[in-house]
Amino acid sequence: MLIRYRLARPQDARAIGVLARRVTRRWILPEQPASAAASLLYGMGARVIRRKILAGQRFQLAWQDGGRLVGVAAMRDESHLFQFFVGTRLHGHGIARRLWQRAMDDAVRRAGTRHFTLNSSAMAVPVYRHLGFVCSGPLKISDNGLVTQPMHLDRP
Ligand SMILES: CC(C)(COP(=O)(O)OP(=O)(O)OC[C@H]1O[C@@H](n2cnc3c(N)ncnc32)[C@H](O)[C@@H]1OP(=O)(O)O)[C@@H](O)C(=O)NCCC(=O)NCCS
Repeated sequence: MLIRYRLARPQDARAIGVLARRVTRRWILPEQPASAAASLLYGMGARVIRRKILAGQRFQLAWQDGGRLVGVAAMRDESHLFQFFVGTRLHGHGIARRLWQRAMDDAVRRAGTRHFTLNSSAMAVPVYRHLGFVCSGPLKISDNGLVTQPMHLDRP
């Protein structure tokens, strides 16, 4: 299976949104209260994502041969991973690990980042542990009820 990796351009926003919303509906929304869904999905709309790319947030993408988007890892402030999705059929093939490596290398090269953070869905906590993250504290509940696990990684 050939997967190509590259940084997103503004015109990729629609494909990113489609993948992010599909994976979120399948894996994240079932574990969250209904009140959290709308704002979570709103942040994955093409217009919002395009604005973020234009504002300099870095979306690393994985494309399957044939031009299908199969993975995304988005970093803000060169230190906070805020979107991390791989198409369900391709889970477990190392795509997230490659995306994370690219996102981390990019932030280190651009800003010398040593401390990375994220707020994890329940299903992704074991994956992030494999990538070197540890829990930062108790579960966090946002105003709209979204429940996440804050995690961090400190580079040596
Ligand atoms: C989290 C997610 C992006 C991982 O993508 P993936 O491509 O399947 O992950 P990889 O195959 O690269 O695996 C990365 C590491 O996690 C481990 N891993 C993968 N799935 C795992 C699971 N369900 N349980 C435990 N470990 C797992 C792998 O063994 C690998 O570790 P290793 O390299 O040391 O062997 C994917 O499962 C996903 O899109 N989940 C739904 C959306 C989501 O919850 N995203 C996180 C939002 S905070």
